Amino acid sequence: VINRFAFIGAEAGTWRVTSQKALSGEALDEISHLDIVAFQSDVSRAPGNWPLIGAKSNLRYTTRTELNSLRSRQEGLGRPQATRAALIPLRKSAAWWDLSQDERRAIFEEQSHHSAIGLDYLPAIARQLYHCRDLDEPFDFLTWFEFAPEHTRHFDNLLERLRRTREWSFVEREVEIRLERAIHG
Ligand code: HEM
Repeated sequence: VINRFAFIGAEAGTWRVTSQKALSGEALDEISHLDIVAFQSDVSRAPGNWPLIGAKSNLRYTTRTELNSLRSRQEGLGRPQATRAALIPLRKSAAWWDLSQDERRAIFEEQSHHSAIGLDYLPAIARQLYHCRDLDEPFDFLTWFEFAPEHTRHFDNLLERLRRTREWSFVEREVEIRLERAIHG
């Protein structure tokens, strides 16, 4: 099973970048298009952080009850109407990683209500989380979202709510890249 992916910034690709901004920390080199491909060990790292590498992984914080709610509402990537996307790479601070697992869970859900907030936006927003903290990458996570154009404001609202949470006070680097599908079919 392939679980490691390369996010390649290039001159052409499946997704065209419509905006790119750094919210916290250092910016990323600007790209015009993005492709997501299965990772090959010969992918070469250009200056400016691209390509970014991330792996699909197991869940860390989700309870059985939460998982059942999420699964009953969520839809998968690749829906034909979902022609808008966002790639949001994030890194959390040393203070976050110094916490214990139960302390991180309490901040993530009991204090910040991350999955409860997220649930309000399903099934409009489809998502995939990639982990990269242990891959010697510049970020800890690559987060990927797909939605239909009419749900763009919905997605903006989700971001506003999450960024006001205690969890986000531990985010030290965050870049937001908005995209639209360049190739149809
Ligand atoms: C679309 C609605 C969303 C839902 C339903 C959702 C749900 C979740 C859930 C259940 C987890 C925990 C996974 C685990 O157990 O390990 C998670 C993790 C995460 N989500 Fe979301 N999320 C949503 C939106 C977002 C957005 C918009 C962002 C970024 C701006 C984001 C960033 C993250 C990150 C970085 C993690 C990993 C946190 C960590 O392990 O420290 N999520 N999300």
